[in-house]
Amino acid sequence: MSAVIDVQVAQKDFGGAPVLGPLRLALASGETVALVGASGCGKSTLLRILAGLDADFRGAVHVDGRAVHGVQREVGFIFQEPRLFPWLSVADNIAFGSGRPGREDQRVGTLLEEVGLTGLQDRLPKQLSGGQAQRVAIARGLYARPRVLLLDEPFSAVDAFTRMKLQDLLASLAQAHGISVLLVTHDVEEAVLLADRVLVLAARPGRVQAEVAVDLPRPRQREHPGLLPLRARVLAALHDAHAF
Ligand SMILES: Nc1ncnc2c1ncn2[C@@H]1O[C@H](COP(=O)(O)OP(=O)(O)O)[C@@H](O)[C@H]1O
Ligand SMILES: [Mg+2]
Repeated sequence: MSAVIDVQVAQKDFGGAPVLGPLRLALASGETVALVGASGCGKSTLLRILAGLDADFRGAVHVDGRAVHGVQREVGFIFQEPRLFPWLSVADNIAFGSGRPGREDQRVGTLLEEVGLTGLQDRLPKQLSGGQAQRVAIARGLYARPRVLLLDEPFSAVDAFTRMKLQDLLASLAQAHGISVLLVTHDVEEAVLLADRVLVLAARPGRVQAEVAVDLPRPRQREHPGLLPLRARVLAALHDAHAF
């Protein structure tokens, strides 16, 4: 199957020093890939390149086989913090790109239901918990019907129980919408729970050091005994990559 999104980075520099590449990463339709690696190894830089937010590199990004430049409707981005507009309601935050009021938008209602926030459309971001705010960010990320979602440590600012709920939500939404997901995470358990493949990056410059396939059926239970040896393999690969 051809890739939904494909990135090749021959080299990416910051201030004359190479930070990324050579590296190639392609996401198949509906596939979830997790990216793990030491802090500073270039994960966020790679995501920004894929999102079309950084064009200053040698290489190329293809969406459905088409070379693309800049932000694409097919590619959604979810950051570590929700980054909601504080003066806009939940509904207007979700529908922000559309130029229409969110209150009257049927798609906003559908998305609110899907992320478990029915009835909260008129709230302001300051009236939400951290987990609720990240659910709004997920709904906003899905609003334009992307084929790919890029997530940069999306659950690292919430407590452990909220994180588990958001992980389950992401898995079920990705499956329901047939979306390809690239998830940057520090959490090895999260990586093996959610991903079809875990890519371990080495640093200076950032490149793919190892790949661990997760051939377990979905939906997955976090207690599944098959996850433990996979977690050990990712940890060993991180160790080999001098991540810790
Ligand atoms: N805007 C920038 N200007 C200069 N250096 C940067 C910039 N952004 C990131 N870097 C450097 O590039 C490297 C990779 O950063 P980043 O992609 O944020 O890593 P990660 O997300 O894996 O922690 C780091 O050494 C970082 O200091
Ligand atoms: Mg980062």
